[in-house]
Amino acid sequence: MPTTPRKLAIATGGGDCPGLNAVIRAVVLRAHAAGLEVLGIEDGLNGLLEGTGATVRALTPIEVAPILARGGTVLGTTNRCSPFAWRDGKAPPRDRGDELLARAEALGIDVLINVGGDGSQAISLELARRGMTVIGVPKTIDNDLDATVETFGFGTAVQVVTDALDRLRTTAESHDRTMILEVMGRHAGWIALHSGIAGGADVILIPELPYSPVHVARDLMRTLGTGRHFALVVVAEGCACVGGELSHKPVASGGIGPSSILGGAGQRVAEEIAAVVPELELRVTALGHIQRGGTPTAYDRLLASRLGVEAVEAALRGERSVLVSSQPPDIRTVPLELAVKKMRAVDPRGQLVAHARGLGISFGDA
Ligand code: F6P
Repeated sequence: MPTTPRKLAIATGGGDCPGLNAVIRAVVLRAHAAGLEVLGIEDGLNGLLEGTGATVRALTPIEVAPILARGGTVLGTTNRCSPFAWRDGKAPPRDRGDELLARAEALGIDVLINVGGDGSQAISLELARRGMTVIGVPKTIDNDLDATVETFGFGTAVQVVTDALDRLRTTAESHDRTMILEVMGRHAGWIALHSGIAGGADVILIPELPYSPVHVARDLMRTLGTGRHFALVVVAEGCACVGGELSHKPVASGGIGPSSILGGAGQRVAEEIAAVVPELELRVTALGHIQRGGTPTAYDRLLASRLGVEAVEAALRGERSVLVSSQPPDIRTVPLELAVKKMRAVDPRGQLVAHARGLGISFGDA
């Protein structure tokens, strides 16, 4: 590896989220200003693997100029196959890591900037172990990466959910209904908690605080006994009642991915509440991938742009196996291992939950 890199490559992996294009743009702009070439790898790292249909292409400042505000990723992404456990139909998984490294070397890639969540950063780490210079950029709308104070895409998702709550409120008010809104958050309730507070929810159910349907029903009846005729309940897809199971829904994944994903928690909670208080009129909305699409907020564009610039700065400083991390007011680098060490969950005894309780919000837990 030359001390000063000449060619960078960038890939976006895992579930998409608003702000990925802002990172790509920032990397290309900063790299070109420093005289570096940038290759874009399509569909996660698949572009480096034969027969995937994905490829590698040069990215120029002119090409990326208009993508700052665009959601998704112009490079495409995948959250299905790891190159180290590649699946072809029903055949046992095989390791294509060395094939990937050989292709990267043949293309003259000095540094890989890998934008993604914990799964993608675990891949970054393994590539680094096999000799590649990798700089990770953290990404997840779930905001559950421990190595960074915040991730872009999260704020946009919170805004989408808050807008949805504002809309549900007016129809709930008109019909005297209790509206249940299911939101993303597999292992962590950050989206539910932030948007629930911002959108004036009465009950928030998160994975970190197992609930009791009887307590949820009791607290709803308390709210409705204070002159209110409607209520709002926000349910994270990964929440479960005490001793209960998560809810899954079937998906068609083209034979590569899982046959079911999390989903249905909102409907399950509605049925649990109805079993205790059948007199309530309930309606369920599941926001699903609407939370992941569309235009990033100004703050997410800012954060994504700064992470992208700092990733190139780290490459220019000769850093390797690091993750650029938001440590307000700065963007710093931390060891890549930290991105995969543990998930950042909501602290049930933390101030955010306490403040929500201070607003009279129930978690259905006591
Ligand atoms: O991790 C982000 C996330 O959006 C989760 O909240 C959600 O459960 C999952 O991805 C959905 O993944 P997919 O795009 O495969 O349906």
